[in-house]
Amino acid sequence: MTETPPAIGLARGLTNYGDPDFARYLRLSMARSMGYSGDLLKKPVVGIATTASEFNNCHRGVPELVAAVKRGVLAAGGLPLEFPTISLGEVFLNPTSLFFRNLMAMDTEEMIRGQPMDAVVLVGGCDKTVPAQLMGAVSAGLPTVQVVTGPMMTGRWRGERLGACTDCRRFWAKFRAGEVDDATIEEVEGNLATTAGTCAVMGTASTMASLAEALGILLPGTAAIPAVHADRIRAAEASGAAALALARAGTTIRDIVTPKSVENALRVLLAIGGSTNAIIHLTAIAGRAGIPIPLAKLNELSDTTPVLVDLKPTGPFYMEDLHAAGGIGAVLRELRPLLHLDCMTVTGETLGQRLDAEPGFVDRAVVRPLAEPLQPQGGLVALFGSLAPRGAILKRAAADSKLFEHEGRAVVFSSLEDLSARIDDPDLDVTADDVLVLQNAGPLSPSGMPEAGYLPIPQKLARAGVKDMLRISDARMSGTAYGTIVLHVTPDSASGGPLGLVRDGDRIRVSVRDRRIDLLVDQAELARRAEASPPAPANPARGYARLYRREVLLADQGCDFDFLLETPGRP
Ligand code: FES
Ligand code: MG
Repeated sequence: MTETPPAIGLARGLTNYGDPDFARYLRLSMARSMGYSGDLLKKPVVGIATTASEFNNCHRGVPELVAAVKRGVLAAGGLPLEFPTISLGEVFLNPTSLFFRNLMAMDTEEMIRGQPMDAVVLVGGCDKTVPAQLMGAVSAGLPTVQVVTGPMMTGRWRGERLGACTDCRRFWAKFRAGEVDDATIEEVEGNLATTAGTCAVMGTASTMASLAEALGILLPGTAAIPAVHADRIRAAEASGAAALALARAGTTIRDIVTPKSVENALRVLLAIGGSTNAIIHLTAIAGRAGIPIPLAKLNELSDTTPVLVDLKPTGPFYMEDLHAAGGIGAVLRELRPLLHLDCMTVTGETLGQRLDAEPGFVDRAVVRPLAEPLQPQGGLVALFGSLAPRGAILKRAAADSKLFEHEGRAVVFSSLEDLSARIDDPDLDVTADDVLVLQNAGPLSPSGMPEAGYLPIPQKLARAGVKDMLRISDARMSGTAYGTIVLHVTPDSASGGPLGLVRDGDRIRVSVRDRRIDLLVDQAELARRAEASPPAPANPARGYARLYRREVLLADQGCDFDFLLETPGRP
C-alpha cells in the first residue's frame, strides 16, 4: 500500500465535499484555469497578502513589492499566490484606523487559515496594517515573513527638508499661532509627502517596522530601507525565498514571536523613542501568542534601556537617515548586551548569529553608542494612580521635562466635539500651568480611540508663545507628535474610569519620578459624581460597530477583541 503524500501546496486543507479525491481533482482543475502549468501547481505555495489600495497612499509601492516577492518564491521553487485583504490608510478612515485594525487582523488570519498555503508573506506598511497582519498571522500560526513598504523620502521646500508628518504638525502649530499664512500652509501641504511609502519619521509605521525587525519577522536590515530604493524591491524578492525556506524547515511565526523576542522588541521600542501606539500594537500581537506585556514590565525595561536614536519627532533626523546610518541592525548591535540573542529569525539564524555576521558601520550622529546615549532611560513610561488605576503612557522622550513633576488645575473637555467647540474660545478660563483633560476618546467611546491626545494648545496661549502644556486623555497620539502628553488612561471614561469623573478646577498631580498620576479629589465626591453621571450611550444596533463595542478590550490589553486573544478573558 502506498502512503498518502503529506498535503502541501494546493492539496492542503481541501474543501469539504465528503470525497477528498474529488476535492483535490476539482481544486486542481480550477487552478489550471489560471494558466499555471501542472508542475507548478504541485509546488509548495507561498501566499502573499497584498494591501494595495487607492485609499492608502503609503501602499502605492505594494504592487511592485508583491511582484518581487513572487519572483523570489518562483526562483526558489515555490508557487506564489497573492491574495487581497483589507488595507488601512491612516488618514482615510472614519472614525479611526484603529477601529478597523482588528477587522483587518481577522481578515488576514482567516484568509491565511482558510486558503491552501504553506507559508505567507505579509506586505504592509501604514500604521495599523503591520500590527493587523502580525496579529492575524500569529493566530494563524504558519511560517511567516513580513515585508514593509518602507518610509517616504523627505521633500525639499525653500531650503528646508520636510517629512510627513512631524513637519505637518510643526507648520500647523505655526499656522494656528498666526506665524504662517494661508498661502504658505498650502505650499507646505504640497511638499510634505512627496513619494510612496510610510511617514518619514519615527512615527507608528516606522516604529512597527523596526519592532518587526527586532522580533525577527522581517529580513535583517530591511525595516528602514526607503520605499523608493531599489534595495526595497530586492528585500521583497529575498523575503519570498525566505518564506519558502521557512516552510521547508517547518519554522512558524510562533517559533519567532516568543516572550524573549517580544522583550527584545520592547527594548528596541524604548531605544528608538518609538511611537506610543506601538505599545498597544505589540501588546495585541503578543496577546495572540498568549504573551502578556504588563505595563510594570514596560517600566522595568524603560529604566534599563537608553534612548539611542535621534529621529523626528524628537530629534532632527528621518528614517532615510537611519537607513543610511546602519538601520535597525546598528541599534540592535548597540543594545546587544541587553538582548536575548538566542531568538530565531526568518532567515533561520538566531539574532546573535545575525549580529555576529553583520558589518559594523554606524553613523553616530543618528545612532548613539550604548555608553553615550541621548537619554539614559527609555522613551516611554507608564504612570499609575487614582486617575489611571490600570495605567497610562507618557512618551517622556517627546515631552518637556519641566512638566515631569507637576500639579495643576484641570480644564476639562468632555468629548472631541466639546474640544473643538471650545479650545480656541478667547473666553476659555485657562493658563499655561493648567492641565488639559480630554474625556470620552478611549477604546470604548464612539470615537474609536482617535489620535486626539495631542490636544492643541488653546489658541490664546499659543499666540502668547506657550509651546507645551500637560495634557491627559484616554485617546492615543500619533507617533509623529510631541509634547507632555499622557495617553491611554485606563480604564477609559466610557467604561466608567475616573478620567470621566474629572471636573473643571480639580487638582491633578503627575510625577514621572514616582510613576504616578493622581486626581486629588476624595472618593466620596467621585462616587457622587459617578452616581450623577448620565447612562452610557446604547450600543450600536448592528454590524461591525456592534461587534467592536461588545468585544474590544482596553488599552492595557492592546485593544484587541476578547475572543481573538490566545486565551480569551478580561482582567
Ligand atoms: Fe501611512 Fe503615516 S499615513 S504611515
Ligand atoms: Mg501615524
